[in-house]
Amino acid sequence: MENSLCVSIFLVLCIFIQSSAHGQSLGLESFGRRSRAVETKETSQETRTRFLLFKEETDKSCQIRLNHSDTLQQCGFNSSLPLVMIVHGWLMEASLENWIWQMVAALKSQLARPVNVALAEWVTLAHTHYSIAVRNTRLVGQEIAALLQWLEESVHFSPSNVHLIGYSLGAHVSGFAGSYMSGKHKIGRITGLDAAGLLFKRASPNDRLSPDDANFVDAIHTFTQEHMGLSVGIKQPIAHYDFYPNGGSYQPGCHFLELYKHIAKHGLNAITQTIKCAHERSVHLFIDSLLHADMQSTAYPCRDMDSFSQGLCLSCKKGRCNTLGYYARQEQQSKKSKSLFLVTRAQSPFKVYHYQLKIQFINQTEKPVEPTFAVSLLGTKEEMQKIPITLNKGITSNKTYSFLITLDLDIGELIMIKFKWENSMVWSNVWNTVQIIIPWGRKSLHSGLVLKSIRVKAGETQQRMTFCSENMNDLQLHPTQEKTFVRCESNSKKLKQKIR
Ligand SMILES: *[C@@H]1O[C@H](CO)[C@@H](O)[C@H](O)[C@H]1NC(C)=O
Ligand SMILES: *[C@@H]1O[C@H](CO)[C@@H](O)[C@H](O)[C@H]1NC(C)=O
Ligand SMILES: *[C@@H]1O[C@H](CO)[C@@H](O)[C@H](O)[C@H]1NC(C)=O
Ligand SMILES: *[C@@H]1O[C@H](CO)[C@@H](O)[C@H](O)[C@H]1NC(C)=O
Repeated sequence: MENSLCVSIFLVLCIFIQSSAHGQSLGLESFGRRSRAVETKETSQETRTRFLLFKEETDKSCQIRLNHSDTLQQCGFNSSLPLVMIVHGWLMEASLENWIWQMVAALKSQLARPVNVALAEWVTLAHTHYSIAVRNTRLVGQEIAALLQWLEESVHFSPSNVHLIGYSLGAHVSGFAGSYMSGKHKIGRITGLDAAGLLFKRASPNDRLSPDDANFVDAIHTFTQEHMGLSVGIKQPIAHYDFYPNGGSYQPGCHFLELYKHIAKHGLNAITQTIKCAHERSVHLFIDSLLHADMQSTAYPCRDMDSFSQGLCLSCKKGRCNTLGYYARQEQQSKKSKSLFLVTRAQSPFKVYHYQLKIQFINQTEKPVEPTFAVSLLGTKEEMQKIPITLNKGITSNKTYSFLITLDLDIGELIMIKFKWENSMVWSNVWNTVQIIIPWGRKSLHSGLVLKSIRVKAGETQQRMTFCSENMNDLQLHPTQEKTFVRCESNSKKLKQKIR
């Protein structure tokens, strides 16, 4: 079901790409006309990328022209402040997308230390057949590099003070800008927001965004789901730190079923908005990190989303974790890319609180059951009720199971866990449940699951805690029953007595 929905998203995407391909003759024509324009322009020394600097009022932009120092003053470029330059991607329409203004506004209004905010505008080269836009990325990268080198020569503005933020194709444009820098300084930072995957997946590091393009490269992957070997966003690591929110392949709240919600919000643009939802989520996660400085999302190193979903990857030992978005810790301990995972909410603020629950079950049932559980967590600030947990397999042996639980709220320090064995809806389960509740034979009197303790690790605080059953004399859990667990420290004596 999920798969077929994704296929349909992909097909719609294809249609969009196709439709721009049909306009190819038109695209090529204007492309040709523009290249002629370039020849005439070259004498008047203009770049085909327009560099727009945003003044105090965010919607007023001012064009900086390469080799024209007067435009720096006119536009209010302050060379003692860093420069953040946004680079957009391939465009379906010949206009800039809304997120650009949201990002500019956030950069302008939210930072404690102000920055110069600019946009590398390459609309005429980006609104064309996708593969032509791909070819244009090198040229735009080259022009950005030329601008940065000119800034270094003319006003001694070091490229290490530059942060390029590139979305989709713009991520690779930024990478090319980095590789065309010939001076002794590299670009300070490049952030790739769901860097394009189409035609870049098998490219060598020189032909796409890669860690050697800047002193620090971070990438957020949000739509890497593959169909027929193609994906919109690139899946493989391309940065020093690669962030994979919700695994990176698709994003919550972007389902086609959400189309109606999007219609209410975006009107006629709802379909495009839904198609772009997961791709553009990378941008909104980044903007969110600026808007909610007090709610930064931690991401954790992990092999894959499967292990992450079992709560197995919440360790931040040796500074292995990092923060998603603008405030990412900028370090490159090794050349190797680090892949970090996290769960996010479907809308801003995107942050969740991650918990690993480790529970050792002792199986004292006679019939196989596939239990579903629900936990309620009580913290010093908030309580979260009935969070469902489902096991992939039934409990057949005395094993320790690990789960990931994510909460939208900061509940403070965890003080109590309520663990409930929910009734299952599956008929065979109901039958088994009845057999367990109503003891037919003498032996069944002792039938149930025993949970002695629950070990908890809180990802955000890195705190480890152990919770013990409140009533150590009755450890057996039966269907529909709920048991309360409190911090062991407070009744560790009782526990020790019981264990003896
Ligand atoms: C800018 O100036 C440099 C050096 O004078 C020159 O090589 C370059 O062609 C100029 N570029 C543009 C676009 O004006
Ligand atoms: C440039 O920024 C610095 C540091 O914030 C500030 O002190 C200075 O006044 C600014 N210069 C101009 C011309 O605005
Ligand atoms: C517990 O073990 C018994 C015997 O191995 C098995 O038949 C039963 O299915 C197990 N119980 C559960 C809850 O899986
Ligand atoms: C699980 O542990 C219980 C009690 O410690 C024991 O009676 C039972 O045989 C164990 N079952 C398995 C499958 O190891």
